[in-house]
Amino acid sequence: MSAAGHPAGRLVRLAETNRAPMRFVLDGAERQALAGDTVLSAILSVAPALRHSEFGVETRAGFCLMGACQDCWVWQEEGPRIRACSTPLTEGMRLLTDAPGDWS
Ligand code: FES
Repeated sequence: MSAAGHPAGRLVRLAETNRAPMRFVLDGAERQALAGDTVLSAILSVAPALRHSEFGVETRAGFCLMGACQDCWVWQEEGPRIRACSTPLTEGMRLLTDAPGDWS
């Protein structure tokens, strides 16, 4: 757990930590990332996984990290689901780790 009570991130930032901060919302909680992050790096720096598997109880954190395997789908509160590894994070993005009802 982080000091803020959130689960610790899977990724630990070791370099480029002086980039400008950006805010985003993950499952209703405001989080912080850094300018230039992909959605995947933003989420995994504050959470242990990107999403739950649609096939079981496991969680997923991406596999290929280059837009080919589709293991990193995450959902936006509004709009289409996105591949986290190939989508740049934008300020204020509102993301979900579980599908909002019908996930298509
Ligand atoms: S991790 Fe494979 S498509 Fe994103």
